[in-house]
Amino acid sequence: MKRALRALSLTLLGAVLLGVLPGCGAAADERQIVRIGHNQSTGHPTHIALTAFEAFIEERLGDKYNVEVYPSELLGSQNEMVQLTQTGAINFCVASNSLLETFSENYSIFNLPYLFASSEAYHAAMDDENVTGPIFSSTKQAGFEAVTWLDAGTRNFYTVSAPIESPADLKGLKIRTQQSPTNVEMMRLLGGSATPMGFGEVYTALQSKVIDGAENNEMALTDNGHGDVCKYYSYDMHQMIPDILIGNLAFLDSLNEQERAVFEEGFALVNRVEREEWSLAVENAKRKAQDEQGVQFYYPDTAPFQQACAPLHQSMLAGNPALIPTYEAIEAYNAQYPSTGT
Ligand code: GCU
Repeated sequence: MKRALRALSLTLLGAVLLGVLPGCGAAADERQIVRIGHNQSTGHPTHIALTAFEAFIEERLGDKYNVEVYPSELLGSQNEMVQLTQTGAINFCVASNSLLETFSENYSIFNLPYLFASSEAYHAAMDDENVTGPIFSSTKQAGFEAVTWLDAGTRNFYTVSAPIESPADLKGLKIRTQQSPTNVEMMRLLGGSATPMGFGEVYTALQSKVIDGAENNEMALTDNGHGDVCKYYSYDMHQMIPDILIGNLAFLDSLNEQERAVFEEGFALVNRVEREEWSLAVENAKRKAQDEQGVQFYYPDTAPFQQACAPLHQSMLAGNPALIPTYEAIEAYNAQYPSTGT
């Protein structure tokens, strides 16, 4: 099934690059196709939000633009989609903030473990353009720009054989991480062995025991089937990493003022719809994982995990002192919305 899907996505990607998808070059349809790729299923909040964007743009600018949303890695892995967005082969994609730190170091700030004290502090910081502005525009020289962020919840460890109740339980375990230097370093500090790979490869790697576990939000258990293999999910709460909608810079710059204003409204809509859908989606995922997949949830003391990761904050700021004001602004939100300990 996976292989068939991959073959389909390669064919589709080839078609996109050659411009032979329906609509391209069809004499009757002069509209410009706006392609958006992401790696989630069609039931995921990300897809629901992008579908709302599609409807909104076509309602307002439908004579000129035809928006097409490609889910489920149909256009490739996130890494591949970022590169396609960079070159303009596609117009937008959703990428985890993790991956973007290899395009601009500034993004590493949002990948820091235990950066946000609570989800309220996380949301308030991400909604503050003084916090996100310097980060979101920092990939312009790479050919793309972040246009909004999406909530991807809290990342926690889940494993095949035994629960993770303290960092010592990670010792000797191969844990899939995202392809990001910060995440690899985090695993080293926690004592596990990082195995970086793309999201689409994780299920097979778990099933074939190439890895002992992974880390993600609750949706990965159900939507991606990881809970069929991993029965222990531990709320160590190590990261709140946003997903980022990025757009090709040349495309964004080609929009006239009025069109850009409509697209900006559309980006705000993506953020709003996704966040409205998110909490309910996580609640449903947790219930389904528990009742239908038999996943058990654990609530370890997070302090030892946090202590182990603390050096990453210092090393990131020492390596990029320009981010100190952003870090301080986030600390101010943490003071305003402290952890409630749940
Ligand atoms: C989450 C996130 C994705 C990311 C994935 C991963 O699902 O929303 O953007 O690709 O984690 O762990 O790779």
